[in-house]
Amino acid sequence: MDLPSTFDVIFPQALPSTYDNHTVRKLSSMKGQFADQQAYARLLDKEDVVLYEVYEFKRPQEAGELLYGISVVHPGKVGDEYYMTKGHFHAVRETAEVYYCLKGQGVMVMETPEGDWAVEELRPGKVLYVPPCWAHRSVNTGSQEDLVTFFVYPGHAGHDYGTIEQYGFRKLVIEVNGQLQIVDNPRWQAPGERP
Ligand code: 6PG
Ligand code: NI
Repeated sequence: MDLPSTFDVIFPQALPSTYDNHTVRKLSSMKGQFADQQAYARLLDKEDVVLYEVYEFKRPQEAGELLYGISVVHPGKVGDEYYMTKGHFHAVRETAEVYYCLKGQGVMVMETPEGDWAVEELRPGKVLYVPPCWAHRSVNTGSQEDLVTFFVYPGHAGHDYGTIEQYGFRKLVIEVNGQLQIVDNPRWQAPGERP
């Protein structure tokens, strides 16, 4: 029988009291994603640091179901670029997502297949609606705290990492003289210009 279920968000870490899957993403799994390849190589030489973790709850990956969980991006930088998630489109493009920020500070970098882009602030209490067809990447712009968000999205959405792995996001989030800056990604190519 499919019974209702609950979990608690345990503060101050804002981690879930229980979960089914725990994904740990390390620096080595994001080769080529950070703009400063030398800084990436230097950091990886020192340690394959954990960039972020995802706690998820098992539900059928089908329409009508919702997949949900907690995403934790740790603080840090590769060169002057903040730690971030891989980022992805949903395999079923026409599927949206809601994020609710529980802890820390950051931004969500988003873009459409046509190259439109948006960057929205994340701070505790902020709810973000990522419309259908917008790829999304969480970025921790703090220096001390984890960026923790609760997320929920349709069960049949799936993930398409390929497009982002190949071209990256149009915008990068870096720190210059202690200030956050959103800059063009030199590796990004307009969809119409891609081979
Ligand atoms: C999803 C959500 C979210 C996301 C994590 C990790 O579609 O599952 O957007 O859970 O997966 O924040 O980010 P990446 O999937 O980009 O590694
Ligand atoms: Ni998503």
